[in-house]
Amino acid sequence: MDVTIFGSGYVGLVTGVCLAEVGNNVLCIDIDPKKIDLLNSGGVPIYEPGLEELIKSNREAGRLTFSTDAEAGVKHGLFQFIAVGTPPDEDGSADLQYVLAVAKSIAEHMDSYRILVDKSTVPVGTADKVSAVVRETLAARGADVEFDVVSNPEFLKEGAAIDDFMRPDRIIVGTDNPRTAELLRALYAPFNRSHDRLMLMDIKSAELTKYAANAMLATKISFMNELSNIAETVGADIESVRVGIGSDPRIGYQFIYPGCGYGGSCFPKDVRALEQTAQSLGYDAQLLHAVEAVNFRQKEILFDKIKAHFDGDLAGRTFAIWGLSFKPNTDDMREASSRVLMESLWKAGAKVRAFDPVASEETNRIYGERPDLTLTEDAISATEGADGLVIVTEWAQFRSPNFPALKANLKHPVIFDGRNAVDGLQANAAGLTYVSIGRRP
Ligand code: UGA
Repeated sequence: MDVTIFGSGYVGLVTGVCLAEVGNNVLCIDIDPKKIDLLNSGGVPIYEPGLEELIKSNREAGRLTFSTDAEAGVKHGLFQFIAVGTPPDEDGSADLQYVLAVAKSIAEHMDSYRILVDKSTVPVGTADKVSAVVRETLAARGADVEFDVVSNPEFLKEGAAIDDFMRPDRIIVGTDNPRTAELLRALYAPFNRSHDRLMLMDIKSAELTKYAANAMLATKISFMNELSNIAETVGADIESVRVGIGSDPRIGYQFIYPGCGYGGSCFPKDVRALEQTAQSLGYDAQLLHAVEAVNFRQKEILFDKIKAHFDGDLAGRTFAIWGLSFKPNTDDMREASSRVLMESLWKAGAKVRAFDPVASEETNRIYGERPDLTLTEDAISATEGADGLVIVTEWAQFRSPNFPALKANLKHPVIFDGRNAVDGLQANAAGLTYVSIGRRP
């Protein structure tokens, strides 16, 4: 089938490449000529395991092309995926200007039936707005062309995006039109492995399902972070508590790891946007406020622990940081806890020596050259002459460090482990103080 994807960002590229991989003819459109040039010359603008190889093989097979030509995009696909950004507005609500601009552009050029598929995370009611824009634009052209708008939210996780798309837990399709539902069912048929993963529902429920899933996961994390602080207060070990509650299948083991807060492009933004949607309709979403507030506080917890350990005397000290991306296996630093920590340390007059396996370039892009930030080539070099080590992101390579080497490098033998990633007893055995999130000292 012929598919057009508007937006060659994270979701757009993964969607495009995976639909091409199963045999569709995919044209990806982006307004950024630099991005399209890069993709056309074999480069990839983001780091995602497996993406580069799949782009290469599908381009070579002629099933995947990139262009800035919106008109060509509209002519190409029966399916017109909208996968452009929905950045937060000042009040936290999702800014729909890019989504609606794509809808307008599709309506300006379409001359036969098209299905507009909302893949971006968009608030409830967006499909109605997209339909209205298409209708108005067609009317202004005096064109009478049939179209449908479908909500088909994406649930992929960064770092596992290809696998999540190829082997989805669910494919949510929101439409009121049975014919459109059948066309989407056909498009997604190759991704239904052992059983039918496609869940058909009305458009608004599909739109809300996306936010509900992310808000639920964020709630689990904030709940565990709250409990880890309570565990510290009462002298319990959050690890034992985690295992104890996770054994109940109604609770489950997934997404109950305490840490130094959730980040990324989805949870913080989506929780705020859902709060905002509710607010704008007169409903005060109290639980969501709390999820957000707990996360905000949790992102400051490493700094608070460091400050307490050094009796508030941080000026002139240097701290080694391991992990800058918001989670392992990505270079994405949007709303990363590392940023809150580094900025607090800098404000207190401390310096940072940091290592991340892939996010150095992104760190440079965000912070530029500055005298209080050194990025090192490997993990151990970051600790040379540092006052303490802080683990912010649990990359696999940090989990089993050479503790005696850390002891030798650090001026003050202390590890602040923001993800409970290393074995505290081994650290203690090597003569290091180990400060965790909610574990017994
Ligand atoms: C999240 C969802 O997990 C996806 O299902 C969803 O499709 C995606 O958002 C989206 O809306 O596009 P992602 O942001 O890539 O995916 O990252 P996650 O793996 O969910 O991690 C989010 C944050 O939660 C990270 O900072 C991670 O460190 C933190 N986290 C996760 C915890 O602190 N504890 C946990 O137990 C799990």
